[in-house]
Amino acid sequence: MKVLRWTGAELRDGAAELAALLADTVAGGASVGFLAPLTRAEAAAWWRERAAEAAAGRLAVWVAVDGTGRVAGTVSLARPDKPNSRHRAELVKLMVHRSARGQGLGRRLLATAEHAAAADGITLLHLDTETGSPAEHLYRSAGWTEAGTIPDYALSPDGELRGTTLYFKRPAAPAPPRASAATG
Ligand SMILES: CC(C)(COP(=O)(O)OP(=O)(O)OC[C@H]1O[C@@H](n2cnc3c(N)ncnc32)[C@H](O)[C@@H]1OP(=O)(O)O)[C@@H](O)C(=O)NCCC(=O)NCCS
Repeated sequence: MKVLRWTGAELRDGAAELAALLADTVAGGASVGFLAPLTRAEAAAWWRERAAEAAAGRLAVWVAVDGTGRVAGTVSLARPDKPNSRHRAELVKLMVHRSARGQGLGRRLLATAEHAAAADGITLLHLDTETGSPAEHLYRSAGWTEAGTIPDYALSPDGELRGTTLYFKRPAAPAPPRASAATG
């Protein structure tokens, strides 16, 4: 499984693959911004809009691609365009296809985004996730701090109001390059 950062053009070209992942995630009941049923066409249109944001530098998107070229997972970092907020980013749309879950891919995608954020000088990450969802265990065990819960925040795919829990993390600064022992 390779984890790659996709450019805006790659996102446009790969929108159908990402749409299959998003539709699967919504069909599985996860609260990622959509109501069920989400068609592949609607999902692909949504990803093509993200391609424009990626091309403008406001969104970084990573995809996990398996040996057959199928997209098995994704995660994004959204950067605010406000001048006073350039140090932070929101982690969004962490998703792993139901057929690939439970094998460490979610944790790997999360770590990829965190390392990239630190390398890019981002000093604060934040996210929200459905209260009580499996993702909460992942974030807590990866060192994210819970900041609070908002009840009745959003509808689940099947139309039930659910709360959201906010988390934040200060990504670790990348290690400085090791000084070479050899001097010539
Ligand atoms: C959350 C999600 C990304 C996890 O992906 P994954 O590839 O299954 O995660 P991993 O295999 O890396 O597991 C990470 C941890 O979560 C735990 N976990 C994963 N799924 C779980 C579940 N259904 N119930 C309880 N714990 C679960 C794993 O046991 C693991 O913890 P451990 O290392 O202490 O054993 C995936 O379930 C998903 O896509 N969910 C739907 C979308 C979603 O809710 N995204 C978050 C939105 S903010």
